[in-house]
Amino acid sequence: MKVTVFGIGYVGLVQGAVLAEVGHDVVCVDVNQARVDDLEQGIIPIYEPGLEPMVKSNFEQGRLNFTTDAKKGVEHGEVIFIAVGTPPDEDGSADLKYVLAVASTIAEHMQDRKIIVTKSTVPVGTSDKVNAAVTAKLKELNKATEYDVVSNPEFLKEGAAVNDCMRPDRIILGTSSAKAEKTLRQLYAPFNRNHDKVIVMDIRSAELTKYAANCMLATKISFMNEMSNLAERFGADIENVRKGIGSDPRIGYQFIYPGCGYGGSCFPKDVQALIRSANGVGYKAQILEAVESVNYAQKEKLFSYIMRHFDNDISGKTIALWGLSFKPNTDDMREASSRVLMEQLWQAGAKVQAYDPEAMEETQRIYGLRDDLSLMGNKEQALKGADCLVVCTEWQAFRAPDFDLIKTSLKQPVIFDGRNLYDVEDMLERGLHYYAIGRGKSL
Ligand code: NAD
Ligand code: UGA
Repeated sequence: MKVTVFGIGYVGLVQGAVLAEVGHDVVCVDVNQARVDDLEQGIIPIYEPGLEPMVKSNFEQGRLNFTTDAKKGVEHGEVIFIAVGTPPDEDGSADLKYVLAVASTIAEHMQDRKIIVTKSTVPVGTSDKVNAAVTAKLKELNKATEYDVVSNPEFLKEGAAVNDCMRPDRIILGTSSAKAEKTLRQLYAPFNRNHDKVIVMDIRSAELTKYAANCMLATKISFMNEMSNLAERFGADIENVRKGIGSDPRIGYQFIYPGCGYGGSCFPKDVQALIRSANGVGYKAQILEAVESVNYAQKEKLFSYIMRHFDNDISGKTIALWGLSFKPNTDDMREASSRVLMEQLWQAGAKVQAYDPEAMEETQRIYGLRDDLSLMGNKEQALKGADCLVVCTEWQAFRAPDFDLIKTSLKQPVIFDGRNLYDVEDMLERGLHYYAIGRGKSL
């Protein structure tokens, strides 16, 4: 099937690559010429396990193409995905300007029937706006081309995006058009083999399903972070509590890891956007507001431990920092907890000596050259001469470090662990002062 994807970011590129991988003929369109040029030379703009070989082989075999030519893109696809960004507006609501610009571009160039599929995360009611944008453009150009608008939200996780798209838990189709449903079922058939993962519903429910999923996951995390704050005060260990409640299948083990707050391009923005949408229909989303404020506070937790440990004066201190990306297996720094921490440390006059397996370039891009940030070649170098170690991201490489080396490299044997990677007793036995999240005994 001929498919076009507008937006070559995390979602658009992965979607394009997996559709090409199963044999579809895919054209990906972006306004970013440099990105298109890079991809044509085999340079992949993001780090995502398994993506590079998939993009390269499908590009070489001619099933995956990249262009900035929107007309060519629209003419190509029978199905056209909109997978551009929906960043937060100043007030936190989702900014739809990119989505609506693409809708209008599609209308401008389409000459035959198209299925326009919204894959970006968009507030409830956006499909109506996409519809209105397309209709307005068609009217302006005096065209009567037929089309359908479908909501097909994406549920991939960064760091596991290729796998999530090749083996989706569910494929949500928000549509009332039998024709569009049939075509999209055919498109997704290779990903829908063992049991039917397609769930068809009305457009508004599909749009809300995406926000509800992310907000539920964010709620689980903030709930656990709140429990960790209680555990700390009660002298309990949240890691025991986590295992204790996770063993109840109604609760489950997933997304109940306490830590230094959730980040990424989606949870913070989507929780905020749903709060704003709720306000728009006269509803105060109290749970979501609490989820957001617990997360803000959690992102400042490591800094407060550090200040407490150093008697509120870290001026001139050097902090070794392991982990910069918002989670492992990605180079994405959007809303990363490490950024909140680094900015607080700098404000208080400390220097940061950081290492991350993938996000060093991105950190450099965001912060540029500055005297109080040194990006080190490996995790051992980051320790040298530092006053303490902070762990912000749970990369595998940080799970079993050489604790003797940590002790001898640091000026003080102190670890601040934002992801609860180490054993409290073990740290005590090794003579390391250990601060973790919600582990009463370690404080
Ligand atoms: P991104 O910022 O990585 O990429 C968006 C791309 O769209 C950019 O390359 C940009 O140049 C391009 N673009 C902007 N305007 C364009 C236009 N008019 N025509 C063509 N291209 C245009 O964004 P992303 O992380 O891929 O997210 C895209 C959407 O998917 C968002 O709504 C996001 O909430 C949602 N989503 C993201 C993830 C994720 O893990 N990143 C997962 C599920 C859903
Ligand atoms: C999340 C969802 O998991 C995806 O299903 C969704 O498609 C995506 O948002 C989206 O809409 O963009 P992602 O942001 O890539 O995916 O990463 P997650 O694995 O969900 O982690 C998000 C944040 O929560 C990270 O900072 C992570 O460290 C934190 N987290 C996660 C915890 O603090 N505790 C946990 O138990 C799990």
